[in-house]
Amino acid sequence: MSITLKSVSKEYRLGQTTVHALRNVSLEITQGEFVALVGPSGSGKSTALQLMGALDHPSSGEVWVDDQAVNQLNDRELARLRRDRIGFIFQSFNLIPVLSVFGNVELPLVLKKLPKQERQEKVQAMLERVGLADRAQHKTEELSGGQRQRVAIARALITTPSIVLSDEPTANLDSKTGEEILDLMQRLNQQDRVTLLFATHDPNIVARAKRVVSILDGQIRDG
Ligand SMILES: Nc1ncnc2c1ncn2[C@@H]1O[C@H](COP(=O)(O)OP(=O)(O)OP(=O)(O)O)[C@@H](O)[C@H]1O
Ligand SMILES: [Mg+2]
Repeated sequence: MSITLKSVSKEYRLGQTTVHALRNVSLEITQGEFVALVGPSGSGKSTALQLMGALDHPSSGEVWVDDQAVNQLNDRELARLRRDRIGFIFQSFNLIPVLSVFGNVELPLVLKKLPKQERQEKVQAMLERVGLADRAQHKTEELSGGQRQRVAIARALITTPSIVLSDEPTANLDSKTGEEILDLMQRLNQQDRVTLLFATHDPNIVARAKRVVSILDGQIRDG
């Protein structure tokens, strides 16, 4: 699956002032790529990821997924696209506090209406892969920052999406756990050709990425 930004701008209005978060950005991410999006705080990384994940609309320009313009999809089609094909790891995790670790990771499979037995096997296996099997029944607020991050990662990967959009995926992880998570994601990229786009400051991710895209003041510099 490819995602393309075509001359995309995004403005946020805050009272009298306008923040130009993205300025005329064009960027294509094709199937199987592993891209690191790097830039200082406030440069527009999270904004770009949200637009690529069809979570928000640009102020101008277009977002395309394969040969489909996202702004032409209705709400149902948008929901299906996000549910079935895009894995999103948010900077703030966006976990559901009333659900257990297991319940958070299971949720995308419930939405996909997978049978219970199959859900349980998949979730169990995924929790083992991210090292959280012994926390399955805990509430997410009982977890450390790094553990929460791993729940978010497990939730994004559980549906085997075509693309994983990941906002600072290793920011709260100790270096050993961070390496393990990166190994897992890199395997998905190499073996299953899952496309990876990471917004990151982590030199470890930048070193592993096949392509580095820099962003500064809402403008892209590729290469
Ligand atoms: N909802 C919003 N309303 C108003 N301004 C916003 C909003 N979201 C982001 N911005 C502004 O847009 C600009 C880009 O923000 P963005 O979150 O994309 O940066 P970032 O590169 O992800 O930064 P960080 O590395 O700190 O996560 C910033 O100046 C920010 O203050
Ligand atoms: Mg950000």
